[in-house]
Parts: sequence; structure tokens; C-alpha cells
Amino acid sequence: MKITSLAAHKGGVGKTMLTASLAVLAQQDCEDEEGELGKGKVAMFDLDPQGSLTAWYNARQRDGPILVAPMLRTLALRLYALNRKGVRYVFIDTPPGHSEYIAKAMNVAHLVVVPVRPGELDYKAVQRTMQTVLFWEEPYLALPNGGLFRSRAMGELVRRLDADGQDRLPPVHHRVDLPLRSGLTLTETQPNSAGAQELRNVWAKIRERLGER
Ligand SMILES: Nc1ncnc2c1ncn2[C@@H]1O[C@H](COP(=O)(O)OP(=O)(O)OP(=O)(O)O)[C@@H](O)[C@H]1O
Ligand SMILES: [Mg+2]
Repeated sequence: MKITSLAAHKGGVGKTMLTASLAVLAQQDCEDEEGELGKGKVAMFDLDPQGSLTAWYNARQRDGPILVAPMLRTLALRLYALNRKGVRYVFIDTPPGHSEYIAKAMNVAHLVVVPVRPGELDYKAVQRTMQTVLFWEEPYLALPNGGLFRSRAMGELVRRLDADGQDRLPPVHHRVDLPLRSGLTLTETQPNSAGAQELRNVWAKIRERLGER
């Protein structure tokens, strides 16, 4: 079982949107490879007391991925149980700012994904998250998210991450049409859109990094 945590000290950077989008893509892969057996092989953990991921999930009218909303102290136990059940991928959504939650989600992860939006303050905030993940010695990838396509701000963010030697994922640009309220993801509502392709590119890279092809 491979665990990916989405973490950032900053709010509103896309942690919840990306958790849902990546879990749905992982679920699709499992179903493509295992048919009916692939159902139930992906779980999302909502560690955020705001419950945004749970709200998205409650609006969802489709099977899978599984949602778990554990207490912080039961996180490890829930992961252990899912591993025994044969779950292949877990994605953990975390709240902004809550260091205890962020540290715990980092500690159990095989890979930490740190979304970052363009902007000086965002970059400062993400540096703090990166220091935390380096402190815990966990592998991580930055994910430039939310800037306009071909915008100067997004270009600068990507160049800055590269200049700072930050290992990163391919960027996900701002799309006005992310269908979070409907309990779906962009790869479900508009699989042929540029945004869906960007999300698939990100998932392919994460999957490669997790060591599962
Ligand atoms: N690439 C994007 N294009 C368009 N909208 C986006 C993109 N990424 C995130 N958003 C939107 O930005 C808002 C914040 O995203 P999201 O809730 O995923 O962030 P978060 O980091 O989980 O926030 P919080 O810290 O409050 O939990 C949401 O409305 C989401 O749909
Ligand atoms: Mg969130």
C-alpha cells in the first residue's frame, strides 16, 4: 500500500481538490488493471476538521474511492487495517496550519506532495512546509498549482522551484471549471480537457515515484 499526503501550511492551495482528483485517477487505474476487483482499492483520508473532502464525497453519486475520516490518534490503526484489506493507494488531505496534523500525515507517507500557488507569500509559506518535510526526512515533491496558463506568475514559480533545486511535479494551471461541488473531478466531467490531462500527468509522475507502474 502506498500513501501520499497532500500537505501545506498555507490554506487554499489545492490540497483537497488534488486529493480527490488523484484518488479518482488511482481508482481508475486499479479498475483498468483489476476490473471489479479494482473497486475499493483506493482510500482518501480526510484529516481536515473543516471536512471539505467529506463534503465533496457526500455529493458524489459514484462508487469509490473509499473515504475515511479518522481521528488523528487512530490514523495509524486505520491505515494498518486498510493495508490488510488490500488497499493499494491512500491519499491524505490535511488542514492548513495545524502542525500536529501535518507532521502526522508526513510521518506515515511514502510521498508528500506540497501544492504551491504563485506569489511571494505563498512561496514563503511553502518553504516552511518544505523545511518541515526535510526535518522529518520524508520524500516530497512540490506541485505548482493554480496560476493562469502561460502566465508570468506561474512561469516564475516553476523557475524558482527549479532554481532552488526543489524536485517538483508538472504544473496544474487554473481552470474555472473544477467541478468540486458535484462530487466529481475534472477527469470525470471533462476527460479530454487540458486540465484533465495536467492532472493525469501529475498522477503518472506520482505513481512512478511511488514505484508502482
Ligand atoms: N488548479 C485549479 N484551478 C481552479 N481552481 C482551483 C485549482 N486548484 C484549486 N482550486 C480551487 O481553489 C479553492 C481552494 O482549493 P482547495 O480547497 O483544494 O484548497 P485547500 O488547500 O484544500 O484549502 P484549505 O487549506 O482551506 O483546506 C477551491 O475552490 C478549488 O476548487
Ligand atoms: Mg482543504
